[in-house]
Amino acid sequence: MCLLLLGLLLSLSCISGLPFYNGFYYANRSHGQNLNNSHGKGLLDRVKLVVETPEETLFSHRGANVTLPCRYHYEPALVSPRRVRIKWWKLSENGTLEWDVLVAFGLRHCAFGDYQGRVRLRQDEAREVSLEIQDLRLEDHGRYRCEVIDGLEDGSGLVELELRGVVFPYQPPQGRYQLNFHEAQQACKEQDAVVASFEQLFRAWEEGLDWCNAGWLEDATVQYPITRARQPCGGLGLAPGVRSYGSRHRRLHRYDVFCFAAALKGQVYYLEHPEKLTLAEAKEACQEDGAQIAKVGQLFAAWKFHGLDRCDAGWLADGSARYPVVNPHPSCGPLEPGVRSFGFPDPQSRKYGVYCYRPR
Ligand SMILES: *[C@@H]1O[C@H](CO)[C@@H](O)[C@H](O)[C@H]1NC(C)=O
Ligand SMILES: *[C@@H]1O[C@H](CO)[C@@H](O)[C@H](O)[C@H]1NC(C)=O
Ligand SMILES: *[C@@H]1O[C@H](CO)[C@@H](O)[C@H](O)[C@H]1NC(C)=O
Ligand SMILES: *[C@@H]1O[C@H](CO)[C@@H](O)[C@H](O)[C@H]1NC(C)=O
Repeated sequence: MCLLLLGLLLSLSCISGLPFYNGFYYANRSHGQNLNNSHGKGLLDRVKLVVETPEETLFSHRGANVTLPCRYHYEPALVSPRRVRIKWWKLSENGTLEWDVLVAFGLRHCAFGDYQGRVRLRQDEAREVSLEIQDLRLEDHGRYRCEVIDGLEDGSGLVELELRGVVFPYQPPQGRYQLNFHEAQQACKEQDAVVASFEQLFRAWEEGLDWCNAGWLEDATVQYPITRARQPCGGLGLAPGVRSYGSRHRRLHRYDVFCFAAALKGQVYYLEHPEKLTLAEAKEACQEDGAQIAKVGQLFAAWKFHGLDRCDAGWLADGSARYPVVNPHPSCGPLEPGVRSFGFPDPQSRKYGVYCYRPR
């Protein structure tokens, strides 16, 4: 059924591209133009299909339902409506790939891939063909195209969707520059995050992220954000900005990674516990509390969106020890807000508490 619909769409857009059809159409149009009526009536033969989408980026958050608005109309208005086919698809970040999201023709709708069961067409008003996406996932951010095809005309518009979240640099226990692109994707996933996009890193840089190690981004480029130019970090001659090494080999080249974690539904907290714990004891203690040891992405999200502020370093699921600071204090490290890291201490050491995560 889906393939049928898609096939129908494809074949229809192909038909409108056939030379025979084109000749027919243009013959009528040039006929109108030849009249060269000074009132421009000759051009009325040419009906334009206009697709409208919002210019500004839409913001939403993980788990939410969002509607990507799209409307169309004809200029000049048509007396009798034409049947239209709608196609929504998503563009890859570098613009070279497309993924079908939904196609619709009359009452028949069809969703594809991960969007099955999560998307529907909203047609609350005449000529509205908005796309509703339910239960937003981290991967859903990006550019969507809304295309309206009526057999004679077609038009399309772009909608840009961003998720609220926080970007953080990540290094695995093995140290700096150890991850190829595929391992970087896995590393972010294990922290309840995804590899950040350039837009996400750029926004984080605007908000002050400064990191002197280069990391993978979603499009397999490698970049790093600098807000203060300095000697050990590209030198004083280079202006602040997001600096790029360009595209790198996904398997052969190794860097850190920038992950993107979305605002959480659940809660991250420092476990009140009489003693400091080893890593294994920390995991157990969270479970006894009806929770799980928190992941790095969850700690960053709680710091950024729930204002988690605590001067006690605690274990996290990846074996690192960190603590989140919202209101800096001289007795609590550097005088800037942030999530501080002690790296990956000896798992047997009893110097740290633990941060737990309880989903809601
Ligand atoms: C083109 O002109 C012919 C005859 O004048 C008409 O029958 C046909 O509907 C026109 N086609 C379009 C696309 O307007
Ligand atoms: C249309 O007519 C106007 C005035 O009658 C003339 O100046 C113009 O060159 C004409 N254009 C074409 C495309 O024939
Ligand atoms: C999203 O829509 C679905 C179906 O209409 C509904 O069950 C769900 O509660 C909605 N979720 C939110 C977060 O509004
Ligand atoms: C663009 O991105 C897609 C998906 O992320 C990837 O498969 C493709 O190789 C990329 N193309 C270029 C030219 O980078």
